[in-house]
Amino acid sequence: MHPLLSQLNAIAAQAHTALSAVTTLPELEAYTRAHLGKHSPLAQMNKQLGTLSTEEKRSIAPALQALRQELEAHTHTLQETLSTAAMQAELAAQWYDLTQPSTARKGSLHPITRMRHDIEDLFSSMGFRIADGPHIETEWHNFDALNIPPTHPARDMQDTFFLRTGHANTRENTVLRTHTSPVQVRSMLQYGAPVRVVVPGRVFRNEATDATHDTAFYQVEGLVVDTHIHMGHLKATMQTMLERLFGTEVTVRMRPAYFPFVEPGIELDMLYTKADGTEKWLEIVGAGMVHPHVLRSCGIDPSVYSGFAFGFGLTRLTMLRYGITDIRDLFSGSYSVLSQF
Ligand code: DAH
Repeated sequence: MHPLLSQLNAIAAQAHTALSAVTTLPELEAYTRAHLGKHSPLAQMNKQLGTLSTEEKRSIAPALQALRQELEAHTHTLQETLSTAAMQAELAAQWYDLTQPSTARKGSLHPITRMRHDIEDLFSSMGFRIADGPHIETEWHNFDALNIPPTHPARDMQDTFFLRTGHANTRENTVLRTHTSPVQVRSMLQYGAPVRVVVPGRVFRNEATDATHDTAFYQVEGLVVDTHIHMGHLKATMQTMLERLFGTEVTVRMRPAYFPFVEPGIELDMLYTKADGTEKWLEIVGAGMVHPHVLRSCGIDPSVYSGFAFGFGLTRLTMLRYGITDIRDLFSGSYSVLSQF
């Protein structure tokens, strides 16, 4: 037998033995490289063919070719078997029983959302309608109708985001609403008197941000217009609200304050017990009796109707209720903060 032919037999025997030991895809890859690749004995022998006589070539080349084809066919079959098995193993490992109870933490509502829901429930139970208005508001709704004249400092560029484009239909000047109070105006225009609405919503101020200030935050506005409404109704409503939200008896006091859209205007403080047991008055709500100018702007006769209005920071009240000291914790989406709720 030609020495190259017996060499070929030895290569074949080795290749077959090695192939029968392959059980994984990485092993198969290594095998293919070693026995069929550029540096394999087969490839080397192929190179040697060039040095042979035509006769020798005729007897050896077909055997070499046959062995290569045989090995390629085997590795191909094995490749399919192994990848099917690998995929099945993966599928078996990834099997989920959707009926199993989860050990992961369940989702929960953001503290601001919880607070808003509580407020909505509470005011609904007192006969209030939940209302909302647009974030992009006309200057008329945000300021003029609320008795805030063009010269009022609240219109200053520092506080208000003025928009370059006017209202889509009316071309009126627009702003990002700086408070929820314009929804008082919208509610009176829409429903007339008597009316009771509560308005949780987002407001925007052109301010520097820090631990207690953000350019966007949440307020809640309230409005009651009816015959014979007086400050006593306002105080009782605020006290009821705070007691329900904080789950304890609450002491409140009212101080005179100025807001253009109410007369008299007040600020309502709550006596707050801090973590160390000491007490402190905290300003919670701006409020007052709806100014006759505002009622008139909204088509309501101030000689027949009176009303009270209030507005407070939902964000701030939420921070107080849960003892959160940095506003940025509330809006960062941080899991360590949110997982406490
Ligand atoms: N709109 C006021 C603000 O953003 C809060 C406020 C004060 C609302 C008095 C009222 C009110 O309805 O009567 O600071």
